[in-house]
Amino acid sequence: MTSRQHHRCQTFARHILEQQQDWHPEARGNFSWLLSGIVLACKIIGEEVRRLGLSEVRGAAGDENVHGEQQQGVDVFANEVLMECLGNRGNVGLLASEENEEPVVVLECPDEGEYIVVFDPLDGSSNLDVNVSVGTIFSIYRRTAQNGLSTEQEVLQPGRDQIAAGYVLYSSSTMLVYSTGRGVHGFTLDPTIGTFVLTHPDMRMPERGWTYSVNESYADGFPPYCRRFLHWLKSGEDNTAYRSRYIGSLVADFHRTLLLGGIFMYPPTSTFPEGKLRLAYEGNPIALLAEQAGGLATDGRGRILDIEPTALHQRVPLFVGSQLEMQKLHAFIEQPLKV
Ligand code: AHG
Ligand code: MN
Ligand code: MN
Repeated sequence: MTSRQHHRCQTFARHILEQQQDWHPEARGNFSWLLSGIVLACKIIGEEVRRLGLSEVRGAAGDENVHGEQQQGVDVFANEVLMECLGNRGNVGLLASEENEEPVVVLECPDEGEYIVVFDPLDGSSNLDVNVSVGTIFSIYRRTAQNGLSTEQEVLQPGRDQIAAGYVLYSSSTMLVYSTGRGVHGFTLDPTIGTFVLTHPDMRMPERGWTYSVNESYADGFPPYCRRFLHWLKSGEDNTAYRSRYIGSLVADFHRTLLLGGIFMYPPTSTFPEGKLRLAYEGNPIALLAEQAGGLATDGRGRILDIEPTALHQRVPLFVGSQLEMQKLHAFIEQPLKV
């Protein structure tokens, strides 16, 4: 069997089943059925993104989302596809999306709908019309069968309770990167067979990197510690002259940080005093992946995964990256990094 054929047989579906047999022999295949719904949706979204210039969903949708942001046609398309592919899995109770003000109840009874899926259907969508990488980010929780909780209260779980998280990056290749709490694994879509195959087993973030990623146009509004840290990154002290890379799609900027190390930051700014990114479907899934790969993720005060959410769309400052850069950042914050 040549290595290439072997590669093509190590599919995402097989990987999930192997993990399930190793870690949850009692599982009934429910979870892998749920994940296959996400995979199906992302294949459909990826195809639409790939042919966007030819597509009728390109450009602005003409509406604003719950955050008052201009919705792209593909934001709406991606959201509808995920709602449909996950809504008919038969085991998802609640769906919460960046594009919906409230969670969507799919199955009322927690015993049937045991899972909650929270997602950013299309991350970086303002980059779509200029053909820059975008992605889908997802996070999966178990329903807490505490009666009397509102659907929003059921969704508001701390990131440390995620049972899985991941993203699909629609770029030069389409990659799925996920974790169920046992490491981070990357799969590349093989378009000749329409299947995600394992290409990056056990992904580890380097202890340190040479890249920092932040939108410096907001620097005047950053907290003082952040401006001092930025000065250090650029000063070449400890002969560490970093280079700047900023794509403007969280998934793409994080994917590079995961592979090469360094740090990504969306700090508090004068426009967004609590940061721009949303905790539920950007901060938490990215933080789980970072920690599972050996990195760290904080809001400048403490661990992202320990934040007790108070609202579905709440924003959070996000600092995520390699151990060295994250510890150095927190040295400037003059408080030890509590993780
Ligand atoms: P979304 O497209 O889901 O709204 O997310 C956009 C986010 C994130 O992808 C990126 O890191 C950030 O917006 C970029 O913000 P700025 O343009 O303010 O730098
Ligand atoms: Mn986003
Ligand atoms: Mn989005």
